Amino acid sequence: MMHKVRKAVFPVAGLGTRLLPATKAIPKELLTVVDRPLIQYAVDEAREAGIEQMIFVTGRGKSALVDYFDVAFELETTIREKGKSLEPLDSSRAGFGELVSVRQQQPLGLGHAVWCAREIVGDEPFAVLLPDDLMAGRPGALRQMVDAWESVGGNMLCTEEVPHEKTASYGVITPGRQEGDLTEVLGLVEKPAPEVAPSNLGVIGRYILQPEVMRVLDAGETGAGGEIQLTDAMARLIGTQPFHALKVDAVRHDCGDKAGYVIANLALALERDDVGPRIREYLSRS
Ligand code: UTP
Repeated sequence: MMHKVRKAVFPVAGLGTRLLPATKAIPKELLTVVDRPLIQYAVDEAREAGIEQMIFVTGRGKSALVDYFDVAFELETTIREKGKSLEPLDSSRAGFGELVSVRQQQPLGLGHAVWCAREIVGDEPFAVLLPDDLMAGRPGALRQMVDAWESVGGNMLCTEEVPHEKTASYGVITPGRQEGDLTEVLGLVEKPAPEVAPSNLGVIGRYILQPEVMRVLDAGETGAGGEIQLTDAMARLIGTQPFHALKVDAVRHDCGDKAGYVIANLALALERDDVGPRIREYLSRS
């Protein structure tokens, strides 16, 4: 079994209906938190975790996400001619071969989006990052997962304790043996009602998966909400491969939700030396 995670899939073909009307014209993942689009946070997190190839699964109206990582020749020339710094653009340029994109022709679900990347992923373990889950942590959430994964291998989910009444918004695990922040996964169910949820450990948007999950997804079976669910496919691998959940030391901001998105802006801005003091002062006055 290969012991390095080199590739990461970014499913970014969703419609982002919870953030309408903004997402009518702007892909959700290009919405900014302070001064960087959500996708930039996720790509930086992946780079820090040692990912060499980013695979964007895009859909209609989402090409701007790939364009964002191009070298903006005219912009850079103009900035240089004015003697200004190019530093703000540094991490927004993809290296040669670092970024690949595939299309999901119809938003049939997260599992289907991941499956669309199967040819590029090939026969090796890979990460999945959902950029609308902005993970604020040092080291980054995926780095923490890769570090833990290097000793246990197999599949790894990222989980956090979710309020009991909210289980129907998450994939939820049946926990097994626990060792520190690492929990063995014995079962997995998508969006269970609180009365049948096997725990309050909800799956959040970071995964390390074995390529066999693609073979399960080949069947194209639909689950909750009529969508092809990644959770269902992963559940089929439990018992055949090591399967763990890690509780990472990071704060998750659900930026797919209006309140979560505004909170992320506030939380990250308050931590910054450049804009934090002014915002803190404004909040203390209001
Ligand atoms: P969400 O459940 O947040 O769906 O998808 P969504 O369409 O983006 O947003 P809402 O619920 O309509 O507001 C979780 C992740 O899976 C991707 C999304 O882009 C997001 O990163 N996704 C989902 C796809 O790429 N394709 C799909 O068919 C569904």
